[in-house]
Amino acid sequence: MKPIDDLKPVASYVRKFWKPFSLGTLTLAFTNLFDVLTPFALMKAIDAIANRDMTALTRAVGLYLLFMAGAVSFRHQWRVHFGRFHHSVAEDLRNRLFQKYTSLGPRFFEKNPTGELMSLMINDVNTFRMGVGPGLLILMDGILLIAFIVPFMISISWEWTWKSLVLIPLIPFVIRFMEDRIGRVSRKNQNDLAALSGYTQELVTGIRVVKGFSQEENRQQRHREFSQVYADSSNLLARYDAFFEPALQIGVAAGSVILLAWGSKDVLSGAVTLGTFVAFHEYIKRMIWPMAALGSGFSMLSQARSSYDRMANVFQTNPEVQGEGSRTISKIDSIEVKNLSYTYPDSQLPALSGLNFTLKAGQRLGIIGPVGSGKSTLVHLLTRIREVPRGTVFVNGPTATDIRDLDVQAWRMLLAVTPQEAFLFSQTIENNLLFGRDHREADLPHDDALAVADAVRIRQEVERLPLAFRAWLGEKGVNLSGGQRQRMTMARSLAQIAEGHPATRAQLVILDDSLSAVDTKTERELLDYLKTDDTKSPVTMIVISHRVPAVRDCDLIMVLNNGEIEFLGRHDDALKNSETYKNLCALQSESTDPRNTEGAST
Ligand SMILES: Nc1ncnc2c1ncn2[C@@H]1O[C@H](COP(=O)(O)OP(=O)(O)O)[C@@H](O)[C@H]1O
Ligand SMILES: [Mg+2]
Repeated sequence: MKPIDDLKPVASYVRKFWKPFSLGTLTLAFTNLFDVLTPFALMKAIDAIANRDMTALTRAVGLYLLFMAGAVSFRHQWRVHFGRFHHSVAEDLRNRLFQKYTSLGPRFFEKNPTGELMSLMINDVNTFRMGVGPGLLILMDGILLIAFIVPFMISISWEWTWKSLVLIPLIPFVIRFMEDRIGRVSRKNQNDLAALSGYTQELVTGIRVVKGFSQEENRQQRHREFSQVYADSSNLLARYDAFFEPALQIGVAAGSVILLAWGSKDVLSGAVTLGTFVAFHEYIKRMIWPMAALGSGFSMLSQARSSYDRMANVFQTNPEVQGEGSRTISKIDSIEVKNLSYTYPDSQLPALSGLNFTLKAGQRLGIIGPVGSGKSTLVHLLTRIREVPRGTVFVNGPTATDIRDLDVQAWRMLLAVTPQEAFLFSQTIENNLLFGRDHREADLPHDDALAVADAVRIRQEVERLPLAFRAWLGEKGVNLSGGQRQRMTMARSLAQIAEGHPATRAQLVILDDSLSAVDTKTERELLDYLKTDDTKSPVTMIVISHRVPAVRDCDLIMVLNNGEIEFLGRHDDALKNSETYKNLCALQSESTDPRNTEGAST
């Protein structure tokens, strides 16, 4: 009825977990066989009663018990095996999705709302599981039962069989008709749910903003609308679903009536025994479930398929950074940027155009420029969070290696980056600080955490907390102040240059506007601390800031404006030659006074 292709994911999972699947199918077949045999024993028993034959009756009752016992114990078995099958499928899908999520870059997450990605992981995985588990199971159950029952019926009477089952061949057409509609409604239903959870997720993350703007009522109203849409499509789905069983039952119930009309006169005439008549009626009743099962099974499979389609979209997304390079370097001597331009994939205007500069080991590059001038974009490209164009960034001078040829992960290990957004994990402070280390290690070196906390002037604040370094941070570090969060993320990246870092020690520190929420005094202390690393060699660093004091002492100051380098050189020259720099200095003249601590939001 449907192209075989559509069932490919189901088939591949059956192959992958063939063991529990075949055990489940086998035990299911035995269950059905015993189930179909019981009316046969019933027939023998009734006929024995009619003939007043006690030995035959005892034998028939014995058989009946045996068949029942067989059916019961095999039924338990197939439930166990099938459970193992479909839960393994769900586990596998979840892992595949998570692996895919972690392999994809920011571009993917900008396009797909968090709520939808969560819904995929939870709802769609579950819908698929229900399809390949219970759905496929009842489908096979139905087919097997029909295959077992019909021969028994025919063996009793061919005429009764075709007369009572005459409406059955209509059923596949009904199913096909319903299935198409259910698939469509189900897809809409899943999308509505994803939208609803996305909206809820946004409330959870943005609750402070919502309250700050007194938008609770509006948000609730909008949520009710999302909720209503989802409820409506769920209702529609339920209504379609509800059609199945009654429609099928009508067909089979009609069979019973036909049997009573035709069959009873054969019994009265003595052509067949009463036991046979009762057994036949049992078989007709037993046809109800398989017919309904066919319907529901197909519908569950079709819902599973639409869920799989949504997951397949994700599976087929390629990471923006493909990581085709495999070279590794152990030391950064220089970074050369040649004519680097970059335009975001969905954007018209370039975010960066024609950047040229060289940064040597031990040098400090300060980047300053207005909001939106491309500072963070440059960081994303250098760290290859976004894919940098080939032939624009080279490491280690004359032998110049394109960073595109480097192994991405090995390259990032050489960088200690503090991103602009201070994101922390719901973990202990200590584990957050040492995030770059192997988190599966039970004992993280406590002293290292202390050292970096010292470095970013946060140790005393941490020690004032009830559990100090073992204190648990709320989601995204919500129980910290903005400035604390910022210093915490800075400490986390500085741990990468600390002595004793187990893997490669980072060689280039990048601070992307990491000091915006600390006061000028702390800023100065931090930058002074960062002049040399533990081994007293100068730290190579890129400091990004929109504040002059953070960059004025740098070996090289880059003034970015509109994605272009307006000026590259030292402070004194910048004051003379860069309009933007001059203006920034004038605007911030008060905050360049070291005694001034304005600008702190801690
Ligand atoms: N994910 C994105 N997609 C499209 N455009 C972006 C994205 N991120 C930033 N931009 C644009 O690129 C320009 C530079 O942004 P950014 O590098 O973040 O500036 P800065 O860090 O200097 O404030 C801005 O015009 C911004 O609108
Ligand atoms: Mg920025």
